[in-house]
Amino acid sequence: MTQTTKAVLTGIKPTGSPHIGNLLGAIRPALRLADDPTLQALYFVADYHALTSVNDAKELRHLTYEVSASWLALGLDPARVLFYRQSDIPEIFELSWILACATSKGWMNKAHAYKARVAENERDQNPDLDAGVSMGLYSYPVLMAADILLFDTDLVPVGQDQRQHVEIARDIALRMNHVYGEGLLKLPAALVDANTATVPGLDGRKMSKSYDNTLPLFLPRDKLKKAVNRIVTDSSPPGTPKDPATSVVFQIFEQVASKPEVEQLRQRYQAGIGWGDAKAQLFEVLDQLLARPREQYNALMADTNHIERLLAEGAERARKIAGPVMDRVRQAIGTSRKHG
Ligand code: ADP
Ligand code: TRP
Repeated sequence: MTQTTKAVLTGIKPTGSPHIGNLLGAIRPALRLADDPTLQALYFVADYHALTSVNDAKELRHLTYEVSASWLALGLDPARVLFYRQSDIPEIFELSWILACATSKGWMNKAHAYKARVAENERDQNPDLDAGVSMGLYSYPVLMAADILLFDTDLVPVGQDQRQHVEIARDIALRMNHVYGEGLLKLPAALVDANTATVPGLDGRKMSKSYDNTLPLFLPRDKLKKAVNRIVTDSSPPGTPKDPATSVVFQIFEQVASKPEVEQLRQRYQAGIGWGDAKAQLFEVLDQLLARPREQYNALMADTNHIERLLAEGAERARKIAGPVMDRVRQAIGTSRKHG
């Protein structure tokens, strides 16, 4: 990386099939950033983070391919973006332990995923407030700090829910620098796009795999149509004017259609479009947007060896950046044989 390029890094957890919410809220903005010539993007599949919830080997492997194929099919250029799998970078785990030794337990007590689990146990009146909390879940932010700090990352594009984790990474870097010498680790900053709209799901809540209300990106055409038809609407009949602001169909349409198409649909809402019609329009726009990526996705999933090769190449390039940072850290903490 040259001095003028900034490193922008983010991790994608392979915990489910990517959906329209992921595309609009994370994948598309990240791919735009990757096109910026002043940035070097490092995007990786965070398979070790997924271990806190995915405990089946076949499933983890499959989800890793699904997520990789999705990003590649949607336009990630592996020649430009460093695209790799977390578990292919042993330096991440080495750094993770070192960072754990510089992390106060109290910081982890405040991490939101852990706190949410404790709150759940409290609500269920479980006498063991730590029930269901593995050390993996508890120290999740330390592994994430290692992901980030190992690459001298400047910017970390994440959703609002991950901001705290990036701040923890920054605090850990500050502590390391304080103990071992200023400038040892670069301080990262979260990049949270306030304009990214939350895409609603089929039932009107936030689209999320945890709610089982998603429009997965690569459904075959007929299944996508069926899924779109399942979006909730009110029971107003054709001919009755409809309010775009409260319509899930419209809110998704707005994010994927062109401006003139959106205006036209808005007028048709006022004129009392039938829900079947509105859904058919949304389906057409979605299908147009996803038809080509779907083909590429299917081709990639039919040749997972190719995905493996791309990930291996990405890891090799990433390790070239990680190596010197790790040497610097070993030197600073006293585990390196080399004398500076
Ligand atoms: P899920 O809620 O389906 O489990 P994740 O938490 O894995 O999704 O999110 C991965 C990325 O996609 C995050 O950056 C998140 O902010 C973004 N994202 C997820 N759901 C939505 C949504 N409904 N609208 C906008 N962005 C979303
Ligand atoms: N924790 C992130 C999530 O749940 C995924 C992730 C892992 C990540 N390591 C990262 C994001 C490093 C940004 C930087 O979505």
